[in-house]
Amino acid sequence: MNVEKIMVIGAGQMGSGIAQVCAQAGFTVLLNDLKPEFVERGLAGIEKNLARQVLKERITEDEKVAILANITASTNLVDAGTVDLVIEAAVENMAIKASIFKELDEIAPAHAILASNTSSLPITEIAAATTRPEKVIGMHFMNPVPVMKLVEIIRGLATADEVYKTIEDITKKLNKVPVEVNDFPGFVANRILMPMINEAIYTLYEGVATKEAIDDVMKLGMNHPMGPLTLADFIGLDTCLYIMETLHEGFGDDKYRPCPLLRKYVKAGWLGKKSGRGFYEYA
Ligand code: CAA
Repeated sequence: MNVEKIMVIGAGQMGSGIAQVCAQAGFTVLLNDLKPEFVERGLAGIEKNLARQVLKERITEDEKVAILANITASTNLVDAGTVDLVIEAAVENMAIKASIFKELDEIAPAHAILASNTSSLPITEIAAATTRPEKVIGMHFMNPVPVMKLVEIIRGLATADEVYKTIEDITKKLNKVPVEVNDFPGFVANRILMPMINEAIYTLYEGVATKEAIDDVMKLGMNHPMGPLTLADFIGLDTCLYIMETLHEGFGDDKYRPCPLLRKYVKAGWLGKKSGRGFYEYA
């Protein structure tokens, strides 16, 4: 299937990163969010990233202008009426995602593929909110999107092979590496990453070592680019807790129980880098 026009829903960190890589690959992009100021903030982030690439002489000023011209702001889901693909990167909440997908199903052309960037919610359940479950798929990008090579492509129970193939091809056009995954809680990335982060939080909670020591062990001993507590702050502690709860509920296995310290921080509003404080403090 030929995809030319893509709507990205959610202009936050993930959505704006996805819009940037789609525009850089030459797709026509609609960046959608609830309010104009949310979209403007997302566009400002994209412009800043592209300006850095110009400074590093990876792209020219003209290319930057052309990439930005590929992106149009949208605050109305009705704009999905002309697109070939929607990539949803709204908040991680099943009720909200189901409602967005139900609406998109009514608006988007019959041929359009509806993808979700969910980090752990079941694609099959999101697809059930639509009348086209064969055209619903997971496209899980990693943060920061312009840098990270992986896209987990998640097949829902009903996802058609041709839809999978189209999304695999688009992912390659975005200069990313697609990895095929089936629809189980946390898929592969977060089923492995989040219990490691949760265990690092237990290690701190039980007083085994300081936060700096825990991060140093994993950075220097395992060559991880960031220690697990720094990474948790970077991802957002609310997101980490939500993913652990999804794993805990989805598998019904106590090995996925979220650490009480993680719950406490989230209740305190210590959400990591985005709120200025998590395990570490940020200026
Ligand atoms: N947007 C765009 N580019 C960015 C960026 C951002 N937010 N942050 C960093 N970069 C770029 C920099 O410009 C730099 O580019 P060049 O090499 O071309 O100059 C490059 O990334 C390296 O950046 P820095 O030198 O500033 O810093 P660094 O070497 O420490 O790298 C990092 C930063 C890439 C974030 C690295 O620390 C890293 O890989 N961390 C782990 C990230 C990770 O694990 N991500 C997955 C999170 S889990 C997830 O996303 C899934 C989920 O569902 C929760």
